[in-house]
Amino acid sequence: MPPLSTSAPGVRQAAFRFRCIACGDLSDSARQNFRCSQCGDLLEITYPHGKEAGSAAQNLKASWRQRRLSQSAIDQSGVWRFRDLLPALANDEQAITLREGNTPLYELPRCARITGVPRLSAKHQGLNPTGSFKDAGMTVAATFARLAGFRWVACASTGNTSASMAAYAARGGMRSLVLVPEGKISWSKLSQALDYGAVTCQLRTDFDGCLSLLQELVLRAPVYQLNSINPFRLEGQKTLALELLEQLDWQSPDHIIVPGGNLGNSSAIGKALVEMRDLGLISRLPRLSVIQAEGANALVRTLREAAGKRLISVQAETRATAIRIGNPASWKKAVHVLEATGGACEQVTEIEIAQAKAEIGAEGIGCEPASAVTLAGLKKLLKQGFVKPEESVVLVLTGNLLKDPDFTMGFHRGDLLKGTADESASAALNPLRRPPIVLDATLEAVIGALEQAEKS
Ligand code: F0G
Repeated sequence: MPPLSTSAPGVRQAAFRFRCIACGDLSDSARQNFRCSQCGDLLEITYPHGKEAGSAAQNLKASWRQRRLSQSAIDQSGVWRFRDLLPALANDEQAITLREGNTPLYELPRCARITGVPRLSAKHQGLNPTGSFKDAGMTVAATFARLAGFRWVACASTGNTSASMAAYAARGGMRSLVLVPEGKISWSKLSQALDYGAVTCQLRTDFDGCLSLLQELVLRAPVYQLNSINPFRLEGQKTLALELLEQLDWQSPDHIIVPGGNLGNSSAIGKALVEMRDLGLISRLPRLSVIQAEGANALVRTLREAAGKRLISVQAETRATAIRIGNPASWKKAVHVLEATGGACEQVTEIEIAQAKAEIGAEGIGCEPASAVTLAGLKKLLKQGFVKPEESVVLVLTGNLLKDPDFTMGFHRGDLLKGTADESASAALNPLRRPPIVLDATLEAVIGALEQAEKS
């Protein structure tokens, strides 16, 4: 018999409904495309009776701490440990979990010196079971897919969602269908989906093309979609913020900075921050800022050119392939959270991304290129005076260094930006490069390399 898990005294598990983010329509069920039956906009999950501030907040904090001592699977998950703020399960065994979450918050002393922000840290979501932040959302959404009786789950992906979905589907005894843009995702991510047994289709289009095809597919075939349009995903991803604030002893940092692609993650973190404030878990909101690659800057343009009122799509192009997205599905949710938290939205160049990634690597933790936009963006926000050096800043690193070895090898060998408009400017990155050295297998040769390195 599995060990019993703990539950919060005086706090009931959350009943939930779906609410349209545009017209506010409330419903108990959602269609397979997770769009409002009245106006077609996106849905979010809402907890009508879940906002009990005061003593409940203290009970929750104590209960979440207590669960860390438990041996049960659901308590060991860094997502389900916070289940009081997630859609309720009838029993603990229903959760499909790989013990996701529980990711470290690292200080970044070198990057702190480079940026002149002493209180700089990184929440490393790349240390999740499949190597990205997607696992936090996937454990919840895959669980509800199985509860709804689906045999098939599906997603469009730039790689990380598909790796995560395939893993959780396999763990939950479901089949999975992956739609990825051909030639535009890293082999590491693709190979994960294959290993976890997904039916993997490389479509001759981009991510946006894959996602729009999936939206049609789910209305025609009995597959459950696990993109971040699925609001269960965002509920799971909320726990990133809960865990972060717990690690900070419930003292809000001044800034949280997150990469923006399809904009699900920023929406989830923002939702969590507002819920935490409303519940009395934190007393003030951090500013949540979103950073995009210059070549995939739909949200930046939407805010600058349309005041956040209508989406300006772009033809996306960036070497940070995880965020190579031109038509972000959750743009409206992201605009809401930027407004609610007073955050900023910025864009960074390919060179800035490559430099920031090497700087995070030199901290001994590393991340994938899309995650490095956060450090590059911080530098910009500092220059603009939006972030002050004395403020505390948390960067959300979304993916593991090992997710994109081609980028890392290209950077260190010096051919990452060859043949692009950035080629000549990329010489500025040379001091950060550590190319592999091919030598004869002699002691003298290795000592020579050591001496050479000591001088540089
Ligand atoms: N960072 C990484 C490593 C990602 O894989 C993604 C998105 C993002 C940031 C952006 O997050 O979409 O919530 O704004 N990857 C998706 C995928 C789209 O299919 O793996 P977002």
